[in-house]
Amino acid sequence: MNAVKIGLIGYGTIGRMLAKAIRDGAAGDATLVAVKDIYEEPPFELSPDSPAYTTNIDSFLSMDMAAVVEAASQEVLKEYAPLVVKSGRSLVAMSVGAFGDKAFLEQLGDLATGHRSRILIPSGAIGGLDAISAAAIDQIHEITLTTTKPVTALAGVKSAIDPQLDLDSVTTPTCIYDGPAEEAVARFPLNINVAAALSLAGIGFARTRVRIVVDPEGTRNIHRIDARGVFGELSLEFANNPSPTNPKTSYLAALSAIRLVKTLTEAVRIGG
Ligand SMILES: NC(=O)c1ccc[n+]([C@@H]2O[C@H](COP(=O)([O-])OP(=O)(O)OC[C@H]3O[C@@H](n4cnc5c(N)ncnc54)[C@H](O)[C@@H]3O)[C@@H](O)[C@H]2O)c1
Repeated sequence: MNAVKIGLIGYGTIGRMLAKAIRDGAAGDATLVAVKDIYEEPPFELSPDSPAYTTNIDSFLSMDMAAVVEAASQEVLKEYAPLVVKSGRSLVAMSVGAFGDKAFLEQLGDLATGHRSRILIPSGAIGGLDAISAAAIDQIHEITLTTTKPVTALAGVKSAIDPQLDLDSVTTPTCIYDGPAEEAVARFPLNINVAAALSLAGIGFARTRVRIVVDPEGTRNIHRIDARGVFGELSLEFANNPSPTNPKTSYLAALSAIRLVKTLTEAVRIGG
């Protein structure tokens, strides 16, 4: 196992779970050396054993670390990712929806190549991206993501199929969007990370089909992936429990960030 020093941008739901996992030894031989957030007061007790805390990105990047985990927001990722990459650190990006902006991803990729950095995207609230990206080496004919959410998870959202539809009045599972991922990520930003990760792993935002279904009886976010190609066919379904402190973030998403950090420390890598 390799010892890996980690910096963390965003000490919210995912950031706190990652910090705890590192402390508890659940993320291999990773050490959290620094945290950057926007709270004036450190959000944890500072001690000789605790990570450093700063609100300043330059102080943060001046610390000794091999990889930076972003677990803040798309805006934060867009602002800081180029700085992280230019500093030669690996970047683990949770707010993958930001990569719906193709030009941003291309520029960041070029920067990473020039500075011997890498951009790593955890599979987040879904999985199977290893198989999808392997299948994409040959031809994939179609990929559909069907995301089914409870009414509460879609509060304030308008149906793209029937704009007059009152989501609170539906009595059976009802489709409110069916179209390409590129339009889905613009119209339904709450669903953006999963659709973006799947599009990037497979056949892109224009060809990945996204369906969003509201389920009046539902209690969890369910993501189903159906793909067909030269490899054969696959169907995967994730019925995600929310994380304990933020119902918008699936617990699996936080676990996948922890898993990716653990992978950075391991000599043997499985999957992916
Ligand atoms: N890839 C996936 O499948 C997936 C799943 C869930 C969440 N996410 C994304 O991961 C990100 C984090 O999710 P979360 O649930 O932990 O969010 P959260 O709202 O609980 O925490 C975000 C943290 O970022 C901090 N922050 C805001 N501006 C900042 C700045 N300029 N610098 C540093 N920190 C700043 C906030 O203060 C907060 O502590 C979000 O963008 C979310 O959409 C991705």
